[in-house]
Amino acid sequence: MSSWRPAHLLIEEDFGYSYVCISDFQGQRSWSVSRALANLFSFGHLTGKIGKSGKSLTEDTQAKGQKPQMKTAFIFALLFLAAAAYPRKNGKIVFPAYDDDEHVWSAAGAGDVRSPCPALNTLANHNWLPHDGKNISKAALMSALTDGLNVGYDVALLLATGAFSDLGTPETITLEELQKHNMIEHDASLSRLDNYLGDSTKLDQTLFERLLNASSDGITISIPDFVKYRRERQEESKTNNPSEVFGKKQLIAAAGEVVLVSTIFGSYFSGLPVEAARTFFGSERFPDGWTKPAFPVFAAELIPQITRVAWQCS
Ligand code: HEM
Repeated sequence: MSSWRPAHLLIEEDFGYSYVCISDFQGQRSWSVSRALANLFSFGHLTGKIGKSGKSLTEDTQAKGQKPQMKTAFIFALLFLAAAAYPRKNGKIVFPAYDDDEHVWSAAGAGDVRSPCPALNTLANHNWLPHDGKNISKAALMSALTDGLNVGYDVALLLATGAFSDLGTPETITLEELQKHNMIEHDASLSRLDNYLGDSTKLDQTLFERLLNASSDGITISIPDFVKYRRERQEESKTNNPSEVFGKKQLIAAAGEVVLVSTIFGSYFSGLPVEAARTFFGSERFPDGWTKPAFPVFAAELIPQITRVAWQCS
């Protein structure tokens, strides 16, 4: 059952950019919109005073002669359209189960191929993607992300489009093809050796242990823990790999991986539990007792967080 409830509206300042942060009841998830957008859509009149100045957005919008109610109706219309886009069966929105008989975990067998991405490998091991890791269409990749992990449609579309266009827009791909170096696959991975130094589709035991030990409290790998370990890995790649490439594209991809894994299997705010990391990276299996996020993981939530992590890792 969903425990999601919007609870806080606050204004945050980051990199000189001011935005409104809507956070959930437990403070585990947050969605950010620019302050200008929030003003435009008049979230403020739902909540009263939220600005640092103590001035409510209602006052702001009313001062500008705008009608907050009209704009709220517009927001609800947009949300309604987004809900209408979800798959349905007999008129009801379908949220597929992930632990039914069809999705029981089994390891990759002979002839099965896997990628450098623990999430896609996990989806294949749980049959959200073809278990052999082959003949994957863009639609199948998107369905696996949305149904298996509750990634939002916008994020699924961005990721799948990126992967398919990097591989020359074929009809189908195999997981193994995602190993293509310096496309999505990059140097300085958390748990895999650089392509130059080994096989990036395979977990490296030493790096895996180091990743788990990156947790400063031994319980969760927090975002600051990830950032510290990431920076170490980036330095090591620079020193040990003569063909090292780690530019802006790789930095953003690497930050995206950290934020996605923390959000989906833990929380951006409280971190990724070490035990969840052990199961996810180590066995490419959904962590015990894990349930997919109650609310889809949309780009609006991820983008400010990825920007922040990329900045901290650079
Ligand atoms: C279409 C969707 C996706 C594609 C094509 C993709 C592809 C990749 C690739 C090629 C890598 C290797 C990067 C490297 O060299 O380190 C990677 C790493 C990674 N991916 Fe994905 N991925 C996708 C979705 C996801 C999702 C939804 C998650 C969230 C759980 C995720 C989590 C990770 C993590 C944590 C790593 C880092 C592994 C490491 O550094 O050891 N990916 N992904």
